[in-house]
Amino acid sequence: MDFLKYINQALDSQCYPALPQGLYEPIRYTLEGGGKRIRPVLLLTTAYAYGATPEQALPAAIAIETYHNHTLLHDDLMDQAALRRGRATVWTKWDANTAVLSGDTMLLRAMATLGQCQCERWDELYELFVSTFIGVCEGQQMDMNFEQMQADEVNISEYIEMIRLKTSILVACAAKAGGIIANAETEDCNLLYAFAEKVGLAFQLQDDMLDVWGDPAIFGKANGGDIACGKKTYPLLTAFSLTDSETRKELLKLINDKEASEAGRIKRVTEIYNSMQVRKACEEAVEAYYDEATALYNLLPLSEEKKLPIWQWAEALLGRQK
Ligand code: IPE
Ligand code: IPE
Ligand code: MG
Ligand code: MG
Ligand code: MG
Repeated sequence: MDFLKYINQALDSQCYPALPQGLYEPIRYTLEGGGKRIRPVLLLTTAYAYGATPEQALPAAIAIETYHNHTLLHDDLMDQAALRRGRATVWTKWDANTAVLSGDTMLLRAMATLGQCQCERWDELYELFVSTFIGVCEGQQMDMNFEQMQADEVNISEYIEMIRLKTSILVACAAKAGGIIANAETEDCNLLYAFAEKVGLAFQLQDDMLDVWGDPAIFGKANGGDIACGKKTYPLLTAFSLTDSETRKELLKLINDKEASEAGRIKRVTEIYNSMQVRKACEEAVEAYYDEATALYNLLPLSEEKKLPIWQWAEALLGRQK
């Protein structure tokens, strides 16, 4: 079964009220605006591998995608990002209040849709979603805190914990939710979680890289947004760890000097990255997480035939351009 098509059809056939238009139009705009749907597809894939039907898992799949889109409305406002999926972000097309309120409504719709899931282990599923959603807020807060700190005040392990929370645990939640819905053994559910958590870390490292080197026409977001905001990304922290003290000083100045031309700052920081193999270091880190994910995938006690689609989901993300 084509899970991507299945989830897209289900999202398209959802009904949001017509009025107030200012609340629901941005939601329709967001949910119709594409997106890779990696989380609901993973949820449907793990549920199916463990014997649930796609219909059984569908409410949780729609819930996780609706929640993810909610985070994007708030994230773009927090990051002052103008472009997403090649289109104007909600806070720029409408305004900040709209991004907050339509975003809130999506969060609540996500919870209401999750509530339609017929699941023997409902309490466990609910607890997983709620604790994940709170964890994402913690990660987003850390990301904002790091913006106010200097690059030499954030170490790589703090950065990894921040991306684990803001990005990776939602991917892991998708994988585990599929297992819970299919009533898989707890050990299997935990393995699914650990596997997807590693892929999620690689996924956010790739996102940091694409912010610098991605093709905006494919990636759908503008280059250099992270540099402009002073985000503590893997490329920046790597550059800091690799460079001499003079370049470090220059980087600090470029990251902090928000009065200077944004395009100029982005160009120069990218030049510095390019001069010192930062990209290669990022690619190696992505590969290392994929190796860890592979080892966990190999431990899943399912036949190769049953579990292969889970691996294919991860493999499709390796080397992604969008
Ligand atoms: C964007 O997620 C936010 C991150 C966690 C990097 P996606 O890259 O999954 O966004 P869409 O839904 O495909 O646009
Ligand atoms: C994504 O972080 C985290 C969440 C949306 C929760 P980013 O801020 O890097 O995501 P993009 O690059 O805007 O999609
Ligand atoms: Mg962002
Ligand atoms: Mg962000
Ligand atoms: Mg990003």
